[in-house]
Amino acid sequence: MPGLLFSPLCLTVIWFLSWSLCPSCAQIWTDEVSGEQYGRLESNVTLACNNSEIRLPVSWHLSHSTVLPWHQVTPNGSLVLLHANHSAQGTYSCYDNSGRFLRSIKLRLGHPPGRLTISCQVPNHTHVRCSWVETVKTFLPAEYNASFSNGKEWSPCIVDVTQKHCDVVHPAFWQPIHTLRITETNALGSKNTTASVKLHELLKPDPPESVLVKELEGYPKKLLISWRFPSSWPQHDAFPLIFHIRYRPQGSMFWSEIYSLDNSIVIWDALAGHLHQVQVRTRDEINAESQWSEWSPLLLGRPWEDYITPEPDVEPEDIFTLPTKSKPEASTPKSRGSKHGDEGNLGLVILLVLFSVVILTTIFSLIFVVWMRQRRRDHATKQELTSMVKMKSIPI
Ligand SMILES: *[C@@H]1O[C@H](CO)[C@@H](O)[C@H](O)[C@H]1NC(C)=O
Ligand SMILES: *[C@@H]1O[C@H](CO)[C@@H](O)[C@H](O)[C@H]1NC(C)=O
Ligand SMILES: *[C@@H]1O[C@H](CO)[C@@H](O)[C@H](O)[C@H]1NC(C)=O
Ligand SMILES: *[C@@H]1O[C@H](CO)[C@@H](O)[C@H](O)[C@H]1NC(C)=O
Ligand SMILES: *[C@@H]1O[C@H](CO)[C@@H](O)[C@H](O)[C@H]1NC(C)=O
Ligand SMILES: *[C@@H]1O[C@H](CO)[C@@H](O)[C@H](O)[C@H]1NC(C)=O
Ligand SMILES: *[C@@H]1O[C@H](CO)[C@@H](O)[C@H](O)[C@H]1NC(C)=O
Repeated sequence: MPGLLFSPLCLTVIWFLSWSLCPSCAQIWTDEVSGEQYGRLESNVTLACNNSEIRLPVSWHLSHSTVLPWHQVTPNGSLVLLHANHSAQGTYSCYDNSGRFLRSIKLRLGHPPGRLTISCQVPNHTHVRCSWVETVKTFLPAEYNASFSNGKEWSPCIVDVTQKHCDVVHPAFWQPIHTLRITETNALGSKNTTASVKLHELLKPDPPESVLVKELEGYPKKLLISWRFPSSWPQHDAFPLIFHIRYRPQGSMFWSEIYSLDNSIVIWDALAGHLHQVQVRTRDEINAESQWSEWSPLLLGRPWEDYITPEPDVEPEDIFTLPTKSKPEASTPKSRGSKHGDEGNLGLVILLVLFSVVILTTIFSLIFVVWMRQRRRDHATKQELTSMVKMKSIPI
């Protein structure tokens, strides 16, 4: 085809047509040819000045530079950039020997896609997110296509190009092994990377949330630790979690550890008067192959301390009055005092209300009784009167 195209006869016809019949057509035609070209870095890149045979030799210019990078111009006018590097990128223009513009090409250099490094996260039983990083920096825009297979059929893994990850919802969790295939495509090529995915082993919940450490009033060696399920974990009994709690006095090297299926726990062996560090993590209780979550952020809490009570031997009256669901309080005597005052006030108000209800009920009943009596008495006197009148009217 090129041989035919550039055969002397053909070229002469083209030259004749473009030159004699339609001088302005040549310009339009060459402008149409202008475009973008991609080349590999560190290789020889050839830029063709398509109809350069019209008037050889041609000259080449690079838009942002007065000198061209290391290059050769072939006898047919093509520009060969030797061992092209990043500084060779730009817009190249080709002119014939009379200075007439023939063609411009925007050159972008990079690499074809290489293998991807894939990693997948499984925060619950209904969601898989796989992300990837390139092992080769391509410097070129790429597209990704990802599919997920349960061994029988492929389903799409929904790609987010900017974040370089893809999501599968409701994977077939009962299948032991899945396959993920990601195809990266850019202007210089395309590459498939596959990874096998074991959902059971990758299952790793997010850390427990809203972890709180609270003192238990009256107990200088106890701490109440509470937390919530990770919000990305479905809140039904089908997927129970086990929690791992660790704590130590601040400055100590050794953690004490407890496991729990609940979402709160009381530790009994805190070091009185010391600030403690507390962390909680979690794992699927049933699936022993799954992973522990990350630890929750380090939290500090101090057991209750006896600041204000004048008699230190006083026993705490009632554990049920202790708050268990409120936010942690600063363990200063002031805040405790004011809280106690509030509770006292509330009790007093309730008592007063009850008392007034009783009083009012009594008063109303009394009034009612008195009124009833009065009514009965009135009725009686009326009857008496009528009977007396009747008696008087009876002739003797
Ligand atoms: C590039 O061209 C030069 C000169 O023609 C040649 O010596 C070299 O081997 C070529 N390099 C590649 C990678 O083709
Ligand atoms: C030259 O331009 C023509 C018309 O656009 C095109 O068909 C042909 O492929 C080009 N040849 C080269 C070598 O770029
Ligand atoms: C790129 O290649 C040119 C020669 O074409 C050379 O002068 C320049 O130093 C090279 N730049 C880098 C960063 O390698
Ligand atoms: C020009 O010559 C080179 C070899 O020197 C060849 O690779 C290229 O295809 C030719 N270009 C055109 C447009 O004929
Ligand atoms: C991506 O892959 C799916 C399934 O393999 C295919 O149906 C689809 O056409 C592909 N899309 C692109 C843009 O390659
Ligand atoms: C990549 O996988 C697709 C199937 O989605 C296949 O059609 C294509 O040939 C593969 N490409 C390579 C380079 O292996
Ligand atoms: C599973 O985790 C994903 C990602 O965190 C979340 O968007 C989704 O809502 C979770 N599913 C359930 C049932 O909680």
